[in-house]
Amino acid sequence: MYVNTKDILEKASKEYYAVPAFNINNMEFFHAILEGALEKRAPLIVETSEGAIKYAGNGDIFKGARFFVEMVRLFADSVDIPVALHLDHGKHFEYIIAAIKAGYSSVMIDASEEPFEENLRKTKEIVKIAHAAGVSVEAELGQLAGVEDNVVAAENVLVDPEQAKIFVEETGVDFLAPAIGTSHGAFKFKGEAKLDFERLKKVKELTKVPLVLHGASSVLPEYVRIAEEYGADLSGAKGVPEEDLKKCVELGINKVNTDTDLRIAFIAGLRKYLKENPKEFDPRHYLGAGKKFVKEVVMNRLEFLGCAGKA
Ligand code: G3H
Ligand code: 13P
Ligand code: NA
Ligand code: ZN
Repeated sequence: MYVNTKDILEKASKEYYAVPAFNINNMEFFHAILEGALEKRAPLIVETSEGAIKYAGNGDIFKGARFFVEMVRLFADSVDIPVALHLDHGKHFEYIIAAIKAGYSSVMIDASEEPFEENLRKTKEIVKIAHAAGVSVEAELGQLAGVEDNVVAAENVLVDPEQAKIFVEETGVDFLAPAIGTSHGAFKFKGEAKLDFERLKKVKELTKVPLVLHGASSVLPEYVRIAEEYGADLSGAKGVPEEDLKKCVELGINKVNTDTDLRIAFIAGLRKYLKENPKEFDPRHYLGAGKKFVKEVVMNRLEFLGCAGKA
């Protein structure tokens, strides 16, 4: 069934497990993720970036948002696990409104790059609009530094726990994404992964809301290896080790945003298939090979984050 993201995350927060939120841009990834969640009896959150909405609408964001709602709901309504659709990194008012109007389960307002007061003001405004429509809201505090700025945890880019408390109280936001040292993409750390667990613990104690980890892909070596064996160049790729993610879950992370791991799995499956089947040109076959790898990664995440069997 199609549900409000809040229903999924409040249960996860109470019981201290996490639900991955998987980014999609098309049908194949969605099918893979849904099949994986059904097999694992897990609650499911799929999310789309603004870029995904524009892509799916072939340039028209209202069509793109509707496209995802129609697709996700069509399948969600015929299965007995909870399924939610979330707008990831909503930075522009028009995308957030398009998502709410189309019927998304939740939206993220990402004004994390703006000064605290401005982030607070914008988040409060979106909370008011979204809640009136029965849509829950995620916001972010602190910044996800890229690998270049990897003086990991230059204090000033990470979340300030005391500010997080004020922010949650004043905005009424449903979920909070605290920056604790991760970054987006396949190149997160130059040396060892280094997350600020102490800071995360404080944020949970002070806010008590469901918490979200962005930039949470693990960049699994086995899929990087296959992709590279079949022609990709992903040198220097490094993610958040699964053990670190488990620790984050113990400390209160409930939504684990995952995009890069699916992209790498798909490209590994696709490259391998194309190389091994040079006569093939049926898209259902070569896209199906990528889909199979995505499903494996999805099932692994659902298992180690503790949400398998929670549907
Ligand atoms: O956080 C960003 C997601 O990984 C998706 O990014 O769709 O804008 O490439 P994108
Ligand atoms: P990854 O790039 O680590 O998969 O992070 C995705 C993300 O945070 C989407 O919001
Ligand atoms: Na998000
Ligand atoms: Zn993110």
